[in-house]
Amino acid sequence: MKVAVMGTGHVGLVTCVAFASIGHDVTGTDVDAEKIDALRRGVSPFYEPGLDDALVREIASGRLSFTLEASEALRGAEAVFICVGTPARADGEANLLAMELSASAIARHGGDGAVVVEKSTVPAGTADRVRLTLLREGDGRTFHVASNPEFLREGTALNDSLEPDRIVIGVESERGLDVLRRLYEPIIHSGARLIVTDIRTAELAKHASNAFLAMKISFANALARLCERTGADVTAVADVMGADPRIGRAFLNAGLGYGGYCFPKDVAALERLGARLGYTFTLLQEVARLNEESVEAAAGMVEEALWNLGDKRIALLGLAFKAGTDDVRFSPALALARRLLASGAHVIGYDPRATRAAKEDLPELELASDPYEAASGAHCLVVATEWEEFRSLNLPALHELMAYPVIVDGRNLLDPAEVGGAGFWYYPMGRPPVLQDGSPSSNVERRPTGERTAALGPVEIAG
Ligand code: UDX
Repeated sequence: MKVAVMGTGHVGLVTCVAFASIGHDVTGTDVDAEKIDALRRGVSPFYEPGLDDALVREIASGRLSFTLEASEALRGAEAVFICVGTPARADGEANLLAMELSASAIARHGGDGAVVVEKSTVPAGTADRVRLTLLREGDGRTFHVASNPEFLREGTALNDSLEPDRIVIGVESERGLDVLRRLYEPIIHSGARLIVTDIRTAELAKHASNAFLAMKISFANALARLCERTGADVTAVADVMGADPRIGRAFLNAGLGYGGYCFPKDVAALERLGARLGYTFTLLQEVARLNEESVEAAAGMVEEALWNLGDKRIALLGLAFKAGTDDVRFSPALALARRLLASGAHVIGYDPRATRAAKEDLPELELASDPYEAASGAHCLVVATEWEEFRSLNLPALHELMAYPVIVDGRNLLDPAEVGGAGFWYYPMGRPPVLQDGSPSSNVERRPTGERTAALGPVEIAG
């Protein structure tokens, strides 16, 4: 099938590659000339595992091409996917200008009978505006509007696209359903669950899914604050909760909270949509507040460990909003860096992928080329992103290099017994700290059983 994809960001580009790889004839278009130039040369503008190779392969197969001219991409396309950005406006509502411009271009250059599919995450009701634009500017041609939200995660995007848990199709016409069903046939055939709904339901389902996952994370972080005050261990609490299949263990990892391009803006956009329609979704306001509180809690731990931050050196391991990506948009790691810098600390950051993007975002940040360079002379090391490579740090070497042997684990990545055993003062999130002073910890009221629990670790009894 001939497919046009408007917008070649994370969702758009992965969609291009995924559809080409299952045999469709795909043209991606974007308003960014530099991006199109790079894509034509087979270079992805962002890091995504496996994407560069797949891009080169699909371009070489002749099934995938890119153009700056929307009219060229739209010519003869049976399905048109709108994958443009829907960033948050200052008031939190989704900015839908790029959606409107895309709809307008489709109205002018799209073929009669084309199915116009929203893949960008948009507030429920957006398809009505798209339909109206197509009607007003479409010169009498018929278009079929549909919604097909994308659930891919950065870092596993290609796999998520080709082997999704579910394919959600919101349609209002037989033609829309038929085209999307044919398009996804190979993926449905290999076991993905197809859920067909009306368009508004599909639109809302995407926002609801992201907001619910964000809520799980914020719940875990609120629990972490309570665990810090009771001496309980939030990872063990999450294990117990997650053993109930009705709850599930995923997205209950306490830490610095969520970031990235999706969760923060989608939580805000859903809350704003409710407000605009007369429903106050206070739960979502709290989800966002708790997320900010997580960064503050980590900053508080650094202060608790170091006392005054003025002129202290802090090694920040991890700058990306999560592991497996070079994306620093709304990164909790950078929010923490800003907070520590504002308190007078020197922050030396390291990330396996995201140092360049982080420097652009936060020029005050000093950068190191590996974790040990960052830790050299540091009074505290903070784990801020859950990169696997941070699990196997050479602890004795770090101990040797650092001014104070203090680790704040903003992602609960390290093993408390191991870190404590290597002589570090260890402050995880929502778990008992390991203190090396041989006396009851200074924060004994908050963490009455701290040292003992940390030494034992979570206990599991079989049977
Ligand atoms: C998310 C959704 O998962 C995906 O379905 C949607 O299409 C886009 O938004 P992504 O933004 O790539 O994907 O990141 P995700 O892997 O979901 O993680 C989001 C954030 O939550 C990260 O900052 C991560 O570190 C954090 N997180 C995740 C936690 O703090 N705790 C957890 O338990 C899980």
